[in-house]
Amino acid sequence: MTNQLNTSSQSSKSGSPDLCEIEKKHQEIMAMIDNLILALRNDKLENAMDKHIRELGGKVLDCFDREEKCMINSKYTDYDAHKGEHIKFLKNFAVLKRLCEDEGSLDQLSVAIRNQVVEWLTNHITSVDKNMLNYLKSR
Ligand SMILES: [Fe+2]
Repeated sequence: MTNQLNTSSQSSKSGSPDLCEIEKKHQEIMAMIDNLILALRNDKLENAMDKHIRELGGKVLDCFDREEKCMINSKYTDYDAHKGEHIKFLKNFAVLKRLCEDEGSLDQLSVAIRNQVVEWLTNHITSVDKNMLNYLKSR
């Protein structure tokens, strides 16, 4: 599975450096998710887990921050719900990071990563974030 976002034409229409930057972050996050999926599939998780999770966490945090600033600046009506999703993800992600550090069962970790990171982020970026970007571009 390859998570490719076709946003290049949207980027050029947006005209806003902030929105282009958010779209770029989304593409980078989706590429990182692909690497994570590959690691999960090839049982390479044990060695690379810490690196994957740490890098992905930093990128996601930066992206959430940019999105929230843009939503506030544009008085986005769904800001509270969107921010709530970010908070929910960050709470789950903190639990996941602890699970990594505890060096618990790799199977348990693998399921948690698939559900709470891969699936959640993919759905969020392709639906909630897409709606937000469409709204921000229309202003
Ligand atoms: Fe978001």
